[in-house]
Amino acid sequence: MAITKEKLIEGLNHDLAAEYRAIFQYLQQSFLLKGLGRIPFSEYLSKEAQGEMRHVEFLAEKIVSLGGMPTITPLPVKVGKDLREMLQNDLEAEREAIADYKERAKQAEEFGDIGLQVELENLLAEETHHLEELQKLLEG
Ligand SMILES: [Fe+2]
Ligand SMILES: [Fe+2]
Repeated sequence: MAITKEKLIEGLNHDLAAEYRAIFQYLQQSFLLKGLGRIPFSEYLSKEAQGEMRHVEFLAEKIVSLGGMPTITPLPVKVGKDLREMLQNDLEAEREAIADYKERAKQAEEFGDIGLQVELENLLAEETHHLEELQKLLEG
């Protein structure tokens, strides 16, 4: 049986909650950061938050288009004790986002909304880029 619209909206709302978490997590880190890592990481983290904001806008608008109510409740933010732990938490969150968008793109295809499928695959590509950046940073 094909996926229902309600189930798709539920999935997109999970993704939206995860994007809000990403914004708050990146921003909180950019505020908390002290020491030599503050420059340039504070700016890097706040730019990441701005990028995730575009994902929020896309998902929320799409949920409304489908007749749903976009959530404003984020998934729980993880607070790291130092820069490395912060980036490790971000890496985990990006990895989750990639897995979720992979599943969601499949569901969008199943639902017959190819436009949404393509958009979700683009989000997946952007999160993959975020993940690879974080991997490089953590290698140092
Ligand atoms: Fe995102
Ligand atoms: Fe991301």
